[in-house]
This record gives sequence, C-alpha cells and structure tokens, in this order.
Amino acid sequence: MSRPLRFALLIFALVGIIIACDPRNEIIGPISPTPGDGLDTIAYNPQAYQFPVINGLPAMQIPTDNPVTVAGVRLGKYLFYEKMLSIDSSISCGSCHKQNKAFTDGFPKSIGVDGTVGLRNSMSLINIGYAWRPNNAHNFMWDGKFRHLEEQILAPVENPLEMKNTWEEVERRMRGHAHYPRLFRQAFGISTKSEITKELAAKALAQFMRTLNSADSKYDSVEFRAFNYFTDEEQRGYELFLGDILGTIVTKDAECAHCHSFSRNFSTFARNNFSNNGLDSAVTFNDFIDKGLGNVTNIPSDNGRFREVTLRNIGLTAPYMHDGRFATLEEVLNHYVSGGHPSPNVANELASAPTLRTLSAGDKQDIIAFLKTLTDTSYFNKAEWSDPFLLPDPWVE
Ligand code: HEC
Ligand code: HEC
Repeated sequence: MSRPLRFALLIFALVGIIIACDPRNEIIGPISPTPGDGLDTIAYNPQAYQFPVINGLPAMQIPTDNPVTVAGVRLGKYLFYEKMLSIDSSISCGSCHKQNKAFTDGFPKSIGVDGTVGLRNSMSLINIGYAWRPNNAHNFMWDGKFRHLEEQILAPVENPLEMKNTWEEVERRMRGHAHYPRLFRQAFGISTKSEITKELAAKALAQFMRTLNSADSKYDSVEFRAFNYFTDEEQRGYELFLGDILGTIVTKDAECAHCHSFSRNFSTFARNNFSNNGLDSAVTFNDFIDKGLGNVTNIPSDNGRFREVTLRNIGLTAPYMHDGRFATLEEVLNHYVSGGHPSPNVANELASAPTLRTLSAGDKQDIIAFLKTLTDTSYFNKAEWSDPFLLPDPWVE
C-alpha cells in the first residue's frame, strides 16, 4: 500500500471512530441504541394531580421542583407500602404509618427491622404537606430535623433502628424489578433503569403523602359547615381549650390553644413552633434525655423543646408525646393540669399560669370530649391511600 493511501485509510478510520463515539448517536439510535431498557417506548405524559377541595383546607404550598402528578402519586403509593425498602423486606413505611391510626403505629416507640425499638413515637401523616413552611428550617419530625419532606423521606430507609437498608441497595432492587422501571418512567420520564434514584423515589413518596389530606371530623362539621352541634360537654371543652383566644373574658383557661393554635390543622399554622411542655425535670439544659430541637440547632436553650404537633385525629394516635409515654388522653390531661416538671425553659403556660392547675376532673373530661371531636375516620377505607399489596393483583391498574 502506498503511503498516501495508508494515510487516507487512517484518517477514514479515525473519523469513523469519532462518529461512533459521538454521544448524540445514543439518542439518535441505530448506531448505539439505548442500552437494553426500552423504557422510552412507554408513553410519558404527566397529568397534574387535581387536589380535591376539602372542607375549606387552604391550598397547599408545593415545592416547584416536585409538582404532584397522577403517575407520581401512584408510584409513591407503591413505594410507601413496599417492604423491599427494608433490608430484609419485612417492613414498609406503612408498617409504622397505618391508615386506620391516622398513619401512626400505636406503639410508644416505633419498631424497626428485627423488632428493634426506635427512639421516638411515630407521627401522623394526615395533612402532612401543610407542615412545610418553605422559609422555616425546622418543619418535620418531633425535633424539626428536616426542612423538606423530600429530605425526611431518605432517612428511614438507612436508619439502623428502622429499615436498616442502604439506598444503593434499594435502587438496585427497583432497577431490577418487573414493574418499578415502568412506574418511574411514567412518573418522571426517565429513559433508562439506571436513572432510577433515591431522589426520584423520595419525590414520588412526597407526592403521595401530599395527597393524604382530610378534614372531616365532627369539629369540622360544627365549625365550618354549621350542620352539627357539640354536646354540652364538648362545647365546654372547646371553650376551655381556646380560653382567652376566644377574645372574651374567661374564668378558666386550659391554655392549649396558645401552642396547639387554633387553625385548620391544629398546630401553629404560620410556623412550626417548638416548646418545652414540661415532660421532664432538668436542672441545666444538659439534663434532658432527648434534647429535641437542641439536637438539631445545637443551641442549649433549645434542648427539651419539641414540635407543637397537630391535635387533629388525636383520638386515633395513642400513645402520646415524642416518646409515647402517655397511654391515654386522661394521662395527657393529668400531666398538663399538674403543671409538668420544672426545667430552665419550661413554657410559661405550665410553669406560671395558675389557670391550668385549677382545672377540675370534670374540666379534664370536657377537654377530652372536645379533643375526640377532632377524630376523622372518613379515610379509613379510602382505596387511594391503602396498601395495594393486599389486593389479589397489586399491579393491575
Ligand atoms: C420503624 C418505623 C418507621 C418506618 C419504617 C417509617 N417511619 Fe416515618 N416516622 C417514624 C417515627 C418514629 C417518626 C418520628 C421520628 C422522629 O421525630 O425522630 C416518623 C416521622 C415521619 C415523618 C415526619 C412527620 C412529621 O409530622 O414531621 C414522615 C413524613 C414520615 N415519617 C414518613 C415516612 C416514610 C415516607 C417512610 C418510608 C420511607 C417512613 N416514614 C418509614 C417511624 C417510621
Ligand atoms: C407550651 C405549649 C403547649 C401547651 C400550652 C400545650 N401543649 Fe400540648 N404539646 C406541646 C408540645 C411541644 C407537644 C409535643 C411534646 C413532646 O412530645 O415532647 C405537645 C403534645 C401534646 C399532645 C400529644 C400529641 C401526640 O401526637 O402525641 C397532646 C394530646 C397535647 N399536647 C394536648 C394538649 C392539651 C389538651 C393542652 C391544654 C391542656 C396542651 N396540649 C397544651 C405544647 C403545648
């Protein structure tokens, strides 16, 4: 072969290699097709999820990078009840967040894989999307550890007291699954299985949880729909609960609404407040067993402060408090009326407000009667929220 000819062939071969290596060819197709998944043959046309109007619950604020779609919610529901998120496929999110307990589990402290007892009491997920305040650093968990729902969701999978797994392993399981790749494609438009990530799983779970909204208790029907009446006992409890918030002169005030503020969600609506409601004695800020908010902020005076949680569905979510120490609402009321335990940052309502301590046994019963009007059972059998794996064929749509 002549030298010029060899040179020309070399150039020809080089150009060929360059064309073959052009990443655009992967998208164009024939030279190097998408590696083996065929996901992009599945239609991707996301439909916005239409939030039903629920007894005047306000519109929910939703992060712009995770719009709620029908396919995202569907994927999120499968993931919520998916036991393979746990290392030995024994528990799912739904094991600790049960539909007929307002998405709590009934245990003082949650039970993880292998029966490991956790550190805290499970929390209700009804109306959880409303707990997100974009400008507030501490929105979720008893101690406000997480700002975003999408962030919170990553925690239980790798928590050694909960699902004991790694996200790497969960991603591997989902990529190799017969159905999840299709559901991820429909929800997020991915074109290869390798694009299935923990971030997308968290987005889908968050979308599902943002649909868990309900406000159909007796209280709602009395207060907002005016076709129902409180019993005398409930009415007295309601007035004690609100106390001076009612704006009239009151002789008795249980102080509850100062913290569990009187809003649609029964927790402070504008921000997630934290306080010390006198559960433990402490001489110094270092004496609290569970430091609560202080664990997160590292500010000593935040030690022993916990989130002023919603009291909606409180009749369904026993036992109570971050450590599940009170089995009944009677025990909760006895705690408050006793004035709680002394510590440097115990809230004024407990430490120095004399009104709370004058409540009689009858007053306590009245408050409990009122708290029970906050129970909403309308979603117990709601198929959209229930475990698809209990159906004969979970994957039929
Ligand atoms: C072993 C039981 C257990 C499992 C499994 C579990 N959770 Fe939880 N969940 C809890 C406990 C306990 C808390 C409160 C934790 C804390 O404050 O430290 C909680 C808190 C939450 C919160 C915060 C609620 C609020 O008001 O701030 C959300 C949201 C949540 N879980 C969602 C999930 C999701 C999604 C999964 C599955 C990926 C899951 N959980 C798995 C027990 C569990
Ligand atoms: C100073 C603020 C404050 C006042 C006043 C207050 N609470 Fe609380 N409440 C809290 C905080 C904070 C928590 C969470 C504490 C924890 O678990 O560490 C809580 C928890 C609860 C719980 C348990 C919630 C659950 O999901 O386990 C109930 C029930 C409750 N409060 C009812 C009441 C009632 C009834 C009153 C009035 C008698 C009242 N609270 C007054 C701050 C307050």
